[in-house]
Order: sequence, then C-alpha cells, then structure tokens
Amino acid sequence: MKLFLSTVALFALFNVISGHAGHNHGPGGKHVNIPTKQLNDGNHIPILGLGTFGFGDIPKIRQAINWAVEAGYRHIDTAALYDNEAEIGKGISDVLKKGLVKREDLFITTKLWNDKHAKNQVVPALKESLSKLGLQYVDLYLIHSPEASKEDGSPADIDYLETWQGMEEAQKLGLAKSIGVSNFDTEQIDRIKAHSKVVPAVNQIEVHPMNTQEKTIKDCFERNIAVVAYSPFGFFVSRGGPSKDDPKIKSIAQKYGKSINQVLLRYLIERGLIPIPKSTNQNRMKENLDVFDFHLTPEEVSTMSSFNTNTSIFG
Ligand SMILES: NC(=O)c1ccc[n+]([C@@H]2O[C@H](COP(=O)([O-])OP(=O)(O)OC[C@H]3O[C@@H](n4cnc5c(N)ncnc54)[C@H](OP(=O)(O)O)[C@@H]3O)[C@@H](O)[C@H]2O)c1
Ligand SMILES: *[C@@H]1O[C@H](CO)[C@@H](O)[C@H](O)[C@H]1NC(C)=O
Repeated sequence: MKLFLSTVALFALFNVISGHAGHNHGPGGKHVNIPTKQLNDGNHIPILGLGTFGFGDIPKIRQAINWAVEAGYRHIDTAALYDNEAEIGKGISDVLKKGLVKREDLFITTKLWNDKHAKNQVVPALKESLSKLGLQYVDLYLIHSPEASKEDGSPADIDYLETWQGMEEAQKLGLAKSIGVSNFDTEQIDRIKAHSKVVPAVNQIEVHPMNTQEKTIKDCFERNIAVVAYSPFGFFVSRGGPSKDDPKIKSIAQKYGKSINQVLLRYLIERGLIPIPKSTNQNRMKENLDVFDFHLTPEEVSTMSSFNTNTSIFG
C-alpha cells in the first residue's frame, strides 16, 4: 500500500517534469532487433523491454502494444497491480493475429501483488493474470515486493519463502517459464537461495543515475541473477536531481547525436542491466528503442553514476 500511494504521487509529478520536451531522435521506419541475455534457467530475455505502468494510460495500452511490437519491442512488463493486463492481452492478440510475431517471439512479464503471498494463492493469482492476458504462460513471473499485505493494504505476516514455494509450483506447472523477484535486497535473495530449490532468474529493481544500486547489482550478478532496471528516467523526478539540461549529460548526448533519454537507457545497458522504459507514445517508444547503435565509454558511465545519492523515487 505504501508502494502504491507513493506511486500515485510519483506519477502526478512525472507528468509535470518529464514534459516530453526536446529531442526527438526517433528512428523513423528503422526496425530494431533487440539483443537477448541468457537467464540462469537457460531462457533468454530481450535486454530492453516496454514498461506499461501509467495512470490514465489503460485505454491507450492496446494501441501502444501494437506500435511497440511493430517497432521491434518483444519484451513487455506488466503486473496484476497495474490493472492493464486485459488491455495488454488485447494488444498481444492483435499482433499475433496480424502475424507480426509468434507467441514464442514475445517475452511477457507479470507480477504477483502483495495481497496474494500465501503459498496457495500464487498459482490462482497467476491463472487470473493469464486469463486477462489471454495467454497459456508468461515468460517471467515476479514477486512484486517482499512485503505481504492483506487486501485492505495493511501488513500481513507471510514469509516470502512461502510465496516462493508457490512461484516454484507455477513454474513446474508450465504457467511461468522463468520466476524471479522484484524489490528484493541481497539478504532476502540469499534466504531464498538457502531454503529453496530454484534461484530467482531476475531481480527487478529501481536503477538510474541517482540510484545506481552498485551493491545489489554486483551481488545479483555474482549469484547469476539478471537485473531488470525500472524507472530508468526516474532520475528526472528524484528529489534534488539535476535538470534535463545538466551540462555533463547534455554533452554526452550531443557527442553521440542522441537524446538524454537515450543516453539514460544506454547507461543502464552498458552496466549489463535490462531497462524497461514506459511510454504509450509512438515516437518516444521508437526513440527509446533506438539505443543499439552507440556505446558509452567507461568514463561516461562513471560520469553518469556520479549523480548517485542512493535516492529511490518510491522511498
Ligand atoms: N517492480 C516495481 O516495483 C516497479 C516500479 C515502478 C516501475 N516498474 C516498471 O518499470 C516501468 C518503467 O518505470 P516507470 O514507468 O516508473 O518510469 P520511466 O519508464 O522511467 O518513465 C516513464 C515516463 O517517462 C515518459 N517518457 C518515456 N519515454 C520518454 C522519452 N523518450 N522522452 C521523454 N519522456 C519519456 C513517459 O511518458 P509517455 O508514456 O507519455 O511517453 C512517462 O511519463 C513501469 O512502467 C513498470 O512496468 C516496476
Ligand atoms: C550509497 O550507499 C552505499 C552503500 O550501499 C555507500 O557506500 C555510498 O557511500 C552511498 N552513497 C551516497 C552518495 O550516499
């Protein structure tokens, strides 16, 4: 519930600040092939995906999925919490019917919300998501957060180790090809590792230049866990963050003829992360995909990381 409320505040702010101003280095008709990364269970994840969480965006999501897949997106991130799985499902059905892609070309992630953490709630919750998405399986199912809650949002006393057993069952049933976690720290991941059969394939956490997450990322990589980076543009809304016109970042963008948003995504990719920028706008969606024709130097990655204040926009 805390996460949910602060998210409301965040998005109100975001629409003011991100403003969609400035550059449009969209690639026009260019089709982009997104590289993939192998997970610890052998499955492959495209290293950039489409985020889908935005207030007021649910009616736009079906069209957005069509545009995204046409542009080359194959990886789509949603969650039961976002209440958009049914619209995303319609968009997926559209692109499959149009023959743009086959189901196996897509990588669909959804997440278990905090009020379904009891072991026997996990498989039914996933089945409900699958029914909304119109799918037989998801490619990745995540525990959205280690914190369990009751339906009214108040805390529930359920250990995520129990939740993880439900996740393992979902994978065994073939309802999720890969299973993972979100918003977990190293200690929590190590408890799962010590007490469970399956090691999470992914940890999805907030990463951007003001929240560089060096320790958690290093620990995940040491444990062969891939890191998906959410709120890649969270930078612009962090308290005390630099402006879009910050000269250090602007000069990197100018050097490569790219937008600041594109540099923010490339920064995450250079660090071995998997960003999931959200947009429902066709041009910005294409812009966010057009990040595979340049590299940042290690010095430029350090420059970007120098903005770190360990500030979470959801904190
Ligand atoms: N696991 C978790 O707890 C968790 C938490 C937060 C987010 N997530 C996931 O991560 C995804 C991404 O994070 P986010 O949605 O918080 O934020 P984000 O992707 O960092 O930023 C999205 C905002 O930036 C705008 N935008 C997108 N591309 C742009 C561009 N090229 N130029 C200017 N503005 C641009 C979007 O507006 P338009 O749509 O109008 O373009 C939207 O307002 C979410 O959608 C969700 O799937 C997960
Ligand atoms: C961020 O946190 C790490 C510990 O995880 C610490 O070493 C570092 O000094 C912190 N940086 C800032 C700017 O607070």
